[in-house]
Amino acid sequence: MGPQVIAVEPFDIVVFGASGDLATRKLLPALYQRDVAGQIPEQARIIGVSRRPNSNEEFRAVAREAVHASVGEEKVDRAGLKRFCERLFYVPVDVGADKGWAELAAILQEGEDRVRVCYLATAPELFTVIARQLGKRKLVTEQTRLVVEKPIGKDLKSAREVNDTIGSVFAERNIYRIDHYLGKETVQNLMALRFANALFEPLWNSRYIDSVQITVAETIGVEGRAAYYDTAGALRDMVQNHMLQLLCLVAIETPRSIEADSVRDEKLKVLRALKPINEANAGALTVRGQYRAGAIAEGAVPGYLEELGSKTSHTETFVAIKAEIGNWRWAGVPFYLRTGKRLPSRVSEIVVTFRPVPHSVFDASAGPIASNRLVIRLQPDEGVKLWLMIKDPGPGGMRLRHVPLDMSFAASFGVRNPDAYERLVMDVVRGNQTLFMRRDEVEAAWTWIDPILEAWQGSGEGPKSYTAGTWGPSSAIALIERDGRTWHDEDD
Ligand code: BG6
Repeated sequence: MGPQVIAVEPFDIVVFGASGDLATRKLLPALYQRDVAGQIPEQARIIGVSRRPNSNEEFRAVAREAVHASVGEEKVDRAGLKRFCERLFYVPVDVGADKGWAELAAILQEGEDRVRVCYLATAPELFTVIARQLGKRKLVTEQTRLVVEKPIGKDLKSAREVNDTIGSVFAERNIYRIDHYLGKETVQNLMALRFANALFEPLWNSRYIDSVQITVAETIGVEGRAAYYDTAGALRDMVQNHMLQLLCLVAIETPRSIEADSVRDEKLKVLRALKPINEANAGALTVRGQYRAGAIAEGAVPGYLEELGSKTSHTETFVAIKAEIGNWRWAGVPFYLRTGKRLPSRVSEIVVTFRPVPHSVFDASAGPIASNRLVIRLQPDEGVKLWLMIKDPGPGGMRLRHVPLDMSFAASFGVRNPDAYERLVMDVVRGNQTLFMRRDEVEAAWTWIDPILEAWQGSGEGPKSYTAGTWGPSSAIALIERDGRTWHDEDD
């Protein structure tokens, strides 16, 4: 069966920050893809907004370039791109002042009864400014939805302030907080794997699962984002959102249905059950690192401080955490989380290791029996591998071998893997909140993160240095090896 296109009613999407990085790298290409797939109705409009005094034509040129860069010159559907550009409009607005709002209101007036999506692809400081303005200028109809990206705040207090302000203008059901990891194909596959198969659920608990590892490794450094990144660090940038969301999907109880609040209620329970990490145990359960100059496959790369242009910074570019969920299903099962920049390869995966067999019936000559592992690979090479023990084929007696049942999605289905934003943007238009974070989830995640940040600050120590192109500081290896386990390595 080929990919399905679910029809939607005509809508308007207003992209604030229309010429910025997120809009050009992700949103415009995603909307183009949905358009050429036939999902965007003829009358739908995409209205770009930013401070620049551009015309419709100039915005269309920006979009054309963005699509070419994302899709690749030779793969662009030229007629499709032309049609797509015809639905693009541009209004220069100074969001903090008066200029441009009346013009925007006039355009939106023409589609007053439609679903209206206000996508804030701007700096986070503008979220509350724009939300207030939308309210004040009476641009929020019953059908108006607000989309915000992470970071929502930099700690619990500031996240609450953002949520309070946007919540004073928009009802919670109309606020879509994006965590783009939830839009990734394999993340949703995790839900399919768990809840559409009878096989795993009986084993999905501390009785049969030894440990879980979640790794999100990147080879890139902080690129041009050093100024933002230095105020965030890996814990805020990756763990508070993406990694905790992945952990939630591994750990949640079976929701009543796939409907948004059923899933989000269960995720919230997991977040609230995370055992606190604070000054008493942060030294034993967390590791921070910062890369120095080194080399990745592409060649030599500078260290974080050189990229930042500063002599000192205590910002972590790597973090490893041993987390635990205090409930009946997961008591005693460590969840090892690890993420970092300038690591040797780009790989994101979830590894569920089962407990060893209780007793071996084989002779020593059969070799050791390795534990079963379920490896869910998010990127690259999306797929699922289930590592099993089998008999080594051929004559020569009983020798055991650990091999994967391997399902690579690209090889098995041969379909284009849509970018997370394609799915997420259309979910907003459809009004489906399942893959978005509710206010209480974001705040529960900060409630767990804040004491870790405080413990680090209070320790008076900085992150450990690691050479770019290695798997982080050696203490990250010790964190797991102390427990008699190792980080999963595909080549093992
Ligand atoms: C973003 C972070 O949320 O996710 C970046 O701010 C990170 O620092 C990026 O590079 C990773 O996303 P992906 O989809 O490339 O794994």
